[in-house]
Amino acid sequence: MATFEATKITYHPGTVTREERQKALGQQGVTVWFTGLSGSGKSTIAVAVEQVLIQRGHAAYVLDGDNIRFGLNAGPKILADTRGYGEDQAKRFGLGFSAADREENIRRIGEVAKLFADAGLITLTSFISPYRKDRDAARKVHEGNKAGAIPFVEVFVDTPIGTCEQRDPKGLYKQAREAVAAGKGMGFTGVDDPYEAPTSPELTLNMATQSVEEGVAAVLNYLAERGLIRA
Ligand code: ADX
Repeated sequence: MATFEATKITYHPGTVTREERQKALGQQGVTVWFTGLSGSGKSTIAVAVEQVLIQRGHAAYVLDGDNIRFGLNAGPKILADTRGYGEDQAKRFGLGFSAADREENIRRIGEVAKLFADAGLITLTSFISPYRKDRDAARKVHEGNKAGAIPFVEVFVDTPIGTCEQRDPKGLYKQAREAVAAGKGMGFTGVDDPYEAPTSPELTLNMATQSVEEGVAAVLNYLAERGLIRA
């Protein structure tokens, strides 16, 4: 026998309300926006928070700069080599690290995060997102959402550049310093491209002085205090 009989299904005309969605999912959507220098520990914290949330029965998902830049926000070379884009198209739609491309990167992620959060997910984004106006625009997309504001929590991972550079997990600071010394430059955030620190983030972490566990606890406590997750 079919599990779903048409005679037993109640169809409610119109769109699904936020309350209905929250009830079905047992949680509400929110975007937790991690920002900070390369190597500051954003992704480590975001991934750890995701893991704990999933263990606690929440639906959570990380959007991470390094991964997204292979797919949705791939660069021209990836689009040309693996997606069959012609040279012009690849240049037009592929994203690099110029100010305009970073802006578009963050615009797209702000929109995607909003959709995920609107769908009820606890969405964790991990992008350098160096420019204040771009982060503010992502916030506005959430808070100004027509169907009702979606919570947006900006977490500043304020690890000093000295620590990030000492860790240099991808060797990019070294490359950037060498490029600058050679008079070429690389447009690398914190070295020869600016990072504009948040002026009023909901939360600030410092991964030079805090452990990953302490950072994760701070994020979870903040979300619980706001009533955004079960305590
Ligand atoms: S953002 O500035 O547009 O927000 P995003 O978070 O997507 O950057 O990507 C940052 C990652 O790209 C870094 O962690 C690093 O691995 C890599 N990267 C490559 N070139 C640069 C650059 N010029 N500046 C910063 N990060 C770079």
